[in-house]
Amino acid sequence: MKQIQWFPGHMAKARRQIQEKLELIDIVFELLDARIPYSSANPMLNQIIKRMPKLVILNKADLADPSILNEWVEYFKEKEIASIKVDSVNGKGVDQIVSAANVVLEEKIARSRKRGIVNKPIRALIIGIPNVGKSTFINRLAGRKATRTGDRPGVTKHQQYIKVGDDLELLDTPGILWPKFDDDNVALNLALVGSIKDNILPKDDVVIYGMKYFDKYYKGRIEKRYDIVFDIEDIMSLYEGIGKRRGCLIKGGEIDYDKVNDIFLYDLRHEKLGKVTFDKINV
Ligand code: G4P
Repeated sequence: MKQIQWFPGHMAKARRQIQEKLELIDIVFELLDARIPYSSANPMLNQIIKRMPKLVILNKADLADPSILNEWVEYFKEKEIASIKVDSVNGKGVDQIVSAANVVLEEKIARSRKRGIVNKPIRALIIGIPNVGKSTFINRLAGRKATRTGDRPGVTKHQQYIKVGDDLELLDTPGILWPKFDDDNVALNLALVGSIKDNILPKDDVVIYGMKYFDKYYKGRIEKRYDIVFDIEDIMSLYEGIGKRRGCLIKGGEIDYDKVNDIFLYDLRHEKLGKVTFDKINV
């Protein structure tokens, strides 16, 4: 498969921008895609944020396989990393963010209290790869209660915060990290969920990888959705089955393979093939 490079220039810029902001905040909210908690995590994040407290937010939880997602939550718990499942579109889990952040910062808050600092809002920076749902999450969290604070002097430049009630302030620009997609499976997972553009990897490779994954872990779903019987060893039979059912035909009655690709990706990304997780714990 075509090798994709993890652009060092992008990474260096992201790192610089995030490091500037770290001095202004108490906690990092690391947004991951609940369908790919491993592939959507940037392995450099911990190096960048050092010992800054962190809350992992498993966004798009509504689209993920619930039992595997629970295993991920357990996995984080074992590593003593706080995590929380969120659906930012419908707001599920969002109301637990402030209390979860308070738990992560318990000791720091207690120390501040001893020094007479009370009721200081927690300041958070949201970090995630493109398309993981940062804007949706911020809007949902801040909701109608949101007010933007005036400019406050930061270390290097003035920064705006979005106030969430009295307890939380979000840095208004989230930190964007590039995914580490120079590992084939990670890149394919990112492409499947639509986190990297469809023209970066050959679409056939992405779709065939997805079809094989479904055949292995969610077999009945493809058959049910498209009302077909297929042999995964003969991938053409699968394309033909879907193509015929969905009328993806070009002149001469041939299958329009590209259209089949698009249908499969659309269905997969819009829950038509059910809730799905592409990263297992032992990755
Ligand atoms: P970003 O700022 O991190 O780049 O992401 P953004 O909020 O723009 O969200 C990207 C897409 O993901 C949006 O869909 C948004 O509605 C969707 N999304 C965000 N959070 C959730 C969630 O918790 N659950 C679900 N189901 N969807 C979520 P979009 O505008 O339709 O874009 P696309 O899906 O066509 O890429």
